[in-house]
This record gives sequence, structure tokens and C-alpha cells, in this order.
Amino acid sequence: MAKSNNKIAMLTNFVLIVALLVIVSMAESREIGILKGKQSAPSCDKVYGVASGDTCFGVTQMFNLTTAFFDSVNPNLNCTSLFVGQWLCIAGSA
Ligand SMILES: *[C@@H]1O[C@H](CO)[C@@H](O)[C@H](O)[C@H]1NC(C)=O
Ligand SMILES: *[C@@H]1O[C@H](CO)[C@@H](O)[C@H](O)[C@H]1NC(C)=O
Repeated sequence: MAKSNNKIAMLTNFVLIVALLVIVSMAESREIGILKGKQSAPSCDKVYGVASGDTCFGVTQMFNLTTAFFDSVNPNLNCTSLFVGQWLCIAGSA
């Protein structure tokens, strides 16, 4: 009787420890995600899908954006290799 109670207690402890580990690792990965978001990706509120013939300059003119703003919300964008259907950020904050 005492033995089986012990087993149940051990099992309960084990489950609690595993649950704790899962919670901690989830919290940690969320923190890393927040940090990464702050470091690199600017937040984008509106996107525009590139159509045939579009250029970065054309898109900035279409939406009255300054190139500085456009560059800041589209980091790492290579304007010489735009492709149709590519999403460009046209509103947001860097
Ligand atoms: C962009 O600016 C021009 C002139 O200032 C204006 O006529 C046009 O409506 C604006 N377009 C947009 C999308 O805001
Ligand atoms: C942009 O794309 C063009 C064409 O694919 C390539 O030649 C050029 O090196 C790229 N530039 C950068 C900064 O990645």
C-alpha cells in the first residue's frame, strides 16, 4: 500500500517537473522571439504585392513614400531583383 502510494507520488513529481520544464522553455523561446523582433524586423502595417513592371522607385511614388522610409521598413531588400508577387512593406515603423 505504502509502496504504490510512493509510486504515485513519484509519478506526480515527474509530471510536475516536466510541466515546469515545458513552461520555462516556452517562456524562454518567447523572450528570444521578442528580442529578435526588436533587433531586426521592423513592424509592417501594410504590404503591397509587386506587379509586373514595378520598381522600388515606382512603388515609393505610388504610395508617396520617401526612399529613406521605404528602405527602413524593407531592410535587406534587393531592388535589382524584385519579383512579381513579392511583398513590400509600404506602411509601418522601423
Ligand atoms: C501622393 O501625393 C500626391 C501629390 O502630393 C497626391 O495627389 C496623391 O493623391 C498622393 N497619393 C497617395 C496614395 O497618397
Ligand atoms: C541583388 O540582386 C542582383 C541580381 O540578382 C545581384 O546581382 C546583386 O548582387 C544583388 N545585390 C545584393 C546587395 O545582394
